[in-house]
Formats: sequence, structure tokens, C-alpha cells
Amino acid sequence: MTKIINLDLRELIPFERHEKIFENWNTLKSGEILRITNDHEPKPLYYLFQAEYKDQFKWEYEKQGPKDWIFKITKISQDNKKEKIKEMLKKLQKEDVTSKLKEEAKIMLKNISPTELALIEQEIIKDGTTRKEMRKLCDVHLEIMKDDFKNKDLELKPGHPIHTLMEEHKEILDFVDKLKIAIKKLDYAKNFKDAKMGIEMLRFAAKHLVEADKHHQREEEVLFPEMEKSGITEPPEIMREEHKDIKPKKKELYNLIESCEKLSYQDFVKKVKEIADFLIKELPDHIYKEDNILYPMAIDVIKEKERWEKIKKECDKIGYCCFTPKC
Ligand SMILES: [Fe+2]
Ligand SMILES: [Fe+2]
Repeated sequence: MTKIINLDLRELIPFERHEKIFENWNTLKSGEILRITNDHEPKPLYYLFQAEYKDQFKWEYEKQGPKDWIFKITKISQDNKKEKIKEMLKKLQKEDVTSKLKEEAKIMLKNISPTELALIEQEIIKDGTTRKEMRKLCDVHLEIMKDDFKNKDLELKPGHPIHTLMEEHKEILDFVDKLKIAIKKLDYAKNFKDAKMGIEMLRFAAKHLVEADKHHQREEEVLFPEMEKSGITEPPEIMREEHKDIKPKKKELYNLIESCEKLSYQDFVKKVKEIADFLIKELPDHIYKEDNILYPMAIDVIKEKERWEKIKKECDKIGYCCFTPKC
């Protein structure tokens, strides 16, 4: 028997309504139905579905006023799309990704919003693709879509939690640049005495990178769970895994500098470089993914002003980094 979720919006306060609808919609499989009773004509909701789930739903009225509106929204199969993406995934994971294949993938991905792609990716993971493989896809996807993303502007006001996170990203990238310069200085020097300036610069960069933990904490404890509530689970999980790799490396670098004189200068530089090389590659990559995929996705799925106000309050509770720009 077809699964039908009955939702009576009349029992809910207005700002809870959309959240409840999408929460339930995201649990539906193809062919399943959301049956809604409302106390006014649901035109805005219909347009929202048109914008978000074009060609993925069927809308039918059972009763059209004057007092109550009852309507059914049926989820339409995405299997075809899913299969196509799955096939493309397999092709992209091979070593030899030709420009023709990239072009093919670009055309396919162009018609899919990041949010929709995330939902399909979640299903693919459920079907057995590992998260590690998905991370690979994420990178290829980014490379393919780089030019398109560049032109997107989220147009957020200062003080918006995502605006703050993005401003912090700029600062973090600046510390990564300082890290690069410091490494060059260490290379020129032959001993700790000559490397004094380089080490100071390195300490400054490492200290601020550790300080960025508050930034990750706001993402992990506030933003990601809120996205998960809206049905987006895989992208935040991938970002969490990247945090798990990045955070200990930042601490390791800082501790190494603090106890540098226990090592020979050559050993110290060698160890610093190992960790710094990792951070110099991984941090900008991580930030790029968040700025261009994860955050736009969050803006896309968290629509209600009230939810962003709640996010802001929770972010305030966790606190900010010493380098967070004032707004
Ligand atoms: Fe992050
Ligand atoms: Fe971030």
C-alpha cells in the first residue's frame, strides 16, 4: 500500500509549517504521498515546490476552500537521474578523466541544484558507495563546476551567521599564506638563531589556525545539525570528517613550534613541512567547498528567518575567534 503522510497545518503555528512540510517530504520515497490540510490557499507553497522540486512532484487538490484546502503532493521517481549520476560517478573515479568526460558531466550536473545533488548523493551512499569515494566525486564535481560557482554571490548582510563564517574563511586563508611565507623563511635559514623571524611568523599563523576551532565548532554544533534537520546529511558529514583530519594537524603544528628546541633544526623543519604541506592543501580546499557548495546549500534549504535568528543566537553562545571581523 502506498505510504501517505497526513499533515494538518491548521494545528501548527505559521513559522513551523514549512519546516514540518519539508521534514516530512524529505522522508518520502518515490510514489509516496504527503497529504496536507490547510486553512488558506497554498499558493506560496506550490511556487516553492516548483522552484525546489521541479518535475519531482505531482500536485492534486481534494478540496479547494472556502474554509479548508486539502491537497496531495506525490513524489515522482528520481531513479533515472540517480542511475545516470551513479554511472557518471564510476566513470569519474577512473584515473583518466578526459576533457570530453568532464564536459559530459558538466552538462549533466548543470540541471541539478547542489541541494538536489546532495540528496541523490545521500541515496547513492545508502546504496553502498563509500564516503571516501564520494569525497573524490566532490572534488571532481568542484573542479568541473568551478567557473560556474565563481559567479555566484550569496548577497548576505553582515551579521548573518554565514556571512561571518565566510569572512572568517578569508582570515584563515590569510594565515595559510603566512604559513607558506614562514616555511620559505625556515628554508633559507640554517639554524634556530637565523630562523627567528620565520619561527615567529609560523607561531603566529599556527596560533590563529588553532583559534579557528571556534569556527569549526559553530559549523559542527549549529549549522550542520540545522542542515541535517532539513534532510541534508551527507555534505555536513563529509565536512565533519575533514574537520577531524584538519583539527589535530593544527594543534600538532602549534605544539611542535612550542617545543622546537628539543629537535635538531633540520628535523624541526622537516616535521613542520610535513604538517604545513597538509594544511596548505587541505584548508583552502575545505574552505572552497564550504563557500561554494555547503553554505549556498544551507541558504537554499533553511528558508525561514526565524531559523537563522536561532542559529545566530546559538553561534553567539559558542563565541567567535580573535580574528573574526567586527560587523
Ligand atoms: Fe568547516
Ligand atoms: Fe568553515
